[in-house]
Amino acid sequence: MTLPAINPTTTKAWEALKSHFENIKDVHLKDLFTKHTNRANTLSISWNDFYVDYSKNRIDETTKKLLVDLAKEVKLDEAIQQYFGGSIINETEERAVLHSALRAPSNHTVTVDGKNVIPEVTAVKEKIKRFSDQIISGSLTGHTGKAFTDIVNIGIGGSDLGPAMITESLEFYKNHLNVHFISNVDGDHVHQNLKGLDPETTLFVVVSKTFSTQETLSNATTARNWFVQHAPKEAVSKHFVAVSSNIPNVTNFGIAEDNIFPLWDWVGGRFSLWSAVGLSISLSVGYENFETLLEGAHEMDEHFKNTAFEENIPVILGMLSIWYNNFFNAESEAIIPYSQYLHRLPAYLQQGIMESNGKSVDRNGDPVDYQTGTIIWGEPGTNAQHAFFQLIHQGTKLIPAEFIGFKHSLFEDQDHQDKLMANFFAQTEALMNGKTEAEVLDELKSKNLSEEKLKQLTPFKIFDGNKPTTTLLIDKLTPKSLGALVSMYEQRIFVQGIVWNIFSYDQWGVELGKQLATKILSEINTTQVSDHDSSTQALLKRYLN
Ligand code: F6P
Repeated sequence: MTLPAINPTTTKAWEALKSHFENIKDVHLKDLFTKHTNRANTLSISWNDFYVDYSKNRIDETTKKLLVDLAKEVKLDEAIQQYFGGSIINETEERAVLHSALRAPSNHTVTVDGKNVIPEVTAVKEKIKRFSDQIISGSLTGHTGKAFTDIVNIGIGGSDLGPAMITESLEFYKNHLNVHFISNVDGDHVHQNLKGLDPETTLFVVVSKTFSTQETLSNATTARNWFVQHAPKEAVSKHFVAVSSNIPNVTNFGIAEDNIFPLWDWVGGRFSLWSAVGLSISLSVGYENFETLLEGAHEMDEHFKNTAFEENIPVILGMLSIWYNNFFNAESEAIIPYSQYLHRLPAYLQQGIMESNGKSVDRNGDPVDYQTGTIIWGEPGTNAQHAFFQLIHQGTKLIPAEFIGFKHSLFEDQDHQDKLMANFFAQTEALMNGKTEAEVLDELKSKNLSEEKLKQLTPFKIFDGNKPTTTLLIDKLTPKSLGALVSMYEQRIFVQGIVWNIFSYDQWGVELGKQLATKILSEINTTQVSDHDSSTQALLKRYLN
C-alpha cells in the first residue's frame, strides 16, 4: 500500500482557502478578538498538562474549517493509518517509519513485514536499562576498576542532536555522570573535549545508524587512538560501546558485538532518540526518566492517532504552518522556548523539520510548483527578545512564532518565574496588538516633548502588530512533558509532509555534499586538484599552499 499522492493545490479546499485568504489577509487580529470575545476558548486545545492557544493566529472559524477540509481531502487519515500500521511509507528508501513503535508499551503489536517488532524493541530497552543501571551505580567499571565519571557521545545529525537536546533539556534531572557530545569533524571539537577527560573513567558511546558517516568514524578513531595512548589495547572493549544498525561495520571498527546496541532501518536518524540512540540520555538521567520520556511521546502519538482533526494538536499546528507558508508566503517560523533548558530545541527541530520537509519533488516524482518546508529558527526567551525580536515586531517579514512556556519552574524561584512569564505573555500580546499612532502620541505627550520632536519620533514608534503567535503553556518541564512536546513536533512534520505531497523520511539532498567532499578530500591528500570552477580551484590552491 502506498501513501495517497494528491497535489494539494488541486483540491477544492485549496481553492476555497485561496479566495478566503483574500478576505482575511488584511484583517487585524485585534478586530478578530473584538468580534469574537470567546475566541480564546474556541481556538485552543487542552490536553493532559498542555494548553495550546492558537487564537492569536490570523484565522477565523472558516479558515480552520477549510484547513481541516484540506487535511481530509489529501487523505491524511488514511496516511496516519499507514504510518502507524508499519506500511513502507518511506518509499524512496523502501522503509517503514516507526519511531512511534519505540515508545509503544510492551503489550502493543506493531508489525513490519509480517513480524511484530515490539519484542525486539523491548529486549533492547532491557539492555539499555541494565547497562545504564550498572554504569550509574558504578558496578560496571573501566579497565582499572574505577567507576565511570564521563560519557562521550560521538555521533552527528540525529545521532547527536536528539540525545544532546534531551540531555540538556533534562539537566535538572541528571545524575553525577558528565555527558559530552562530539559531532563535528572539526578536529578542534574532538581534541578540545578529550583534553579534560580521564581515560580511566571515560566511556565512549559511538552512535551511527549506518556506521559509515565520515564525521563519526573520524571522531571515534581519534578518540580510540587517544585512549590507547593511555591504556592497553584490550581495554577498548570496556570503554567503547556502539549504537548502530550496521553490525559488521561496528565489529570491523573493533567494538565487540556484546557492546552493540542495535536499532532498525525503520527508525530514521532524526527520529531516533527514542531508540538506543538515546543511550546517553538514559545514562545521564537514569533509565526510569528515559522510559517516562517515551511514555510522554506515546501519549502524544495516541492523541494524534485518535483525535478528530479539529482538536488534534499536531494537525492544527501543522495546518497553521501550511496556512502561513502557502497563503501568506511566510518563509520562516520562529520557535521560542521560555526555558533555558530548552536552548537546543530549535537546533534539534531544524534537523527534524528542515531535513524532512525540505523537498521539491512530490510523491508522484513531479517537481512541486508550491512552497514546501519552512525555515525554522529560534532561541530561548527572554534572551531572544534582546536579540532578534525587533525584526519580528517591526521588520518587513511575517514570522509566525511559537512560544513554549511552563507554569512552574524547576528550582521554584517564583520571583524569576513571574518575571520570565510576564515577558512570555507580554510578547505575544504586543506582537498581536502593536501600538497605534494615537497610543504613541499619548505616550510621547506625557514626556513634554516639543511638537516638532513629537512628529519626528512618532513613525518610528508605531508597531503595526497583527503578528501571529501560538502559545504552548505546559505545567512543568518533566521527562514526560518533554517527550510529548517532541512527539508533537514529529507528528506535525508528518502532517505537513502528507499535505505537501512529499516524502518526509528520506534526505537525498545531504548526499551530494558528502560525495563531493570525498572527492575533494582525495585531491587534498594527493595535492592533485582536478577540474573545478575557477572559484573552487582558487580556494583549493590557496588552502594547499
Ligand atoms: O545528515 C544526514 C544523516 O543521514 C541524518 O539523517 C542522520 O541523522 C545523520 O546523517 C547521521 O547518520 P548516522 O547515524 O548513520 O551516522
